Amino acid sequence: MTAETPESIPTAGLSRRGMLGLAAGIGAAGLALGAGAGTAAGVATGRARAGEDAASAHAFFGEHQAGITTPVQEHLHFAAFDMMARTNRADLIELLQDWSYAAARLTQGLDVSATGAVGGSPQAPPDDTGEALGLAANGLTITFGFGPSLFRAADGADRYGLASRQPALLRTLPAFLGDDLDPQLSGGDLCIQACADDPQVAVHAIRNLSRIAFGRARLRWSQLGFGKTSKTTAAQATPRNLFGFKDGTANILADDTAALDTHVWVGPSDEPAWLAGGSYLVARKIAMLIETWDRVRLSEQERITGRDKAHGAPLSGGTEASEPDFSAPGATGGTAIDAHSHVRLAHPKSNGGSRILRRGYNYVDGNNALGRLDAGLFFLAYQRSPEQFVTIQRALSTDLMAEYVKHIGSGVWAVPPGAPAGSYVGAGMFA
Ligand code: HEM
Repeated sequence: MTAETPESIPTAGLSRRGMLGLAAGIGAAGLALGAGAGTAAGVATGRARAGEDAASAHAFFGEHQAGITTPVQEHLHFAAFDMMARTNRADLIELLQDWSYAAARLTQGLDVSATGAVGGSPQAPPDDTGEALGLAANGLTITFGFGPSLFRAADGADRYGLASRQPALLRTLPAFLGDDLDPQLSGGDLCIQACADDPQVAVHAIRNLSRIAFGRARLRWSQLGFGKTSKTTAAQATPRNLFGFKDGTANILADDTAALDTHVWVGPSDEPAWLAGGSYLVARKIAMLIETWDRVRLSEQERITGRDKAHGAPLSGGTEASEPDFSAPGATGGTAIDAHSHVRLAHPKSNGGSRILRRGYNYVDGNNALGRLDAGLFFLAYQRSPEQFVTIQRALSTDLMAEYVKHIGSGVWAVPPGAPAGSYVGAGMFA
């Protein structure tokens, strides 16, 4: 990130209200001026001019929000927010404008505002918190989502005049067998997924966006993730989860536009029209009982998963890329891939063709009082309808893996399409 502000970089600042939680902001005006930050011009006049950052910067503005099909970065900071009491529709619009302006800058490796960390008055707290000074964009993507409670509060109140805009499919997820959800790790009016190849860049983004929200939205819960557990391009090697298995083998990839249109993007004829080009995000915080798992013999770990640990090949044979053959006979009777293995139950063939785009991360949140690691998978999946997740998760109720995992957090958000340059994320919802 840089504190330098070449003349061609937007110099108008964020809403002062957003930054400092003070008087009324400038919302739309700030955004319009900030729009260039995400355009080719914005990149060309930023750090990319010095050749430092171009390869690692993803445009914020565009048809779809970045951070869905973007090659999965190494680190995650995810945050769920609740709007504060006594906020109104104008506050929400202004917040989304301010967040969009800041996100457009941050994703280009810039400070959160033109004066940034060290360019403002020495008598005032800086706009930018500064810990990303000197760091490039590192592939940062910032993806925004709207939860069911934004449209209709728990008491039914239509706080922002959006009840008629709520997607019919956007409802709190049903309860699943074995759920042990902590309300403190679930839900949220708004969510932000920040992914980057440098953890400090992802944390800097969430920290500064939380700061901008001051007085309007407050952090409800958040999650750090490391070591991606998925891939979204064929060029990426399949990473591993904390059970030690390759994860993300059978994911939907960015170049499979037919699969994306069928399974990930809300289509032009879907309802509501404002969500076309967007998606639905399901997050599940899944604790993994890794000490128990680590005592399971290798062949059993493989039976549970349905794939071999070394290469990720299906137990029916072949390579990682081979399609599993669920009818292939096993060496000792039955089928080579157990009927209750994770891969068998999660496979589209077991779920009426339902597929999802997975984008999760490993997490370790220290340890518990028994000296066991508080670790797991922060599961993130994008889909055209939350029903796709629901179908697969229901099928997984008899998953052999269920004995070793516990779902402790949950959320679902409508992820609007990308904002066109000069606009802000979610603008179509207010039209
Ligand atoms: C801690 C929990 C979980 C672990 C450790 C885990 C691990 C794995 C592994 C190792 C694979 C095989 C490689 C691959 O294709 O990616 C896999 C596949 C898959 N998992 Fe999970 N998974 C977990 C939770 C879930 C959940 C909650 C869902 C959705 C409800 C899910 C959906 C899938 C799907 C759709 C596949 C691909 C199946 C196929 O088409 O072959 N997983 N998972």
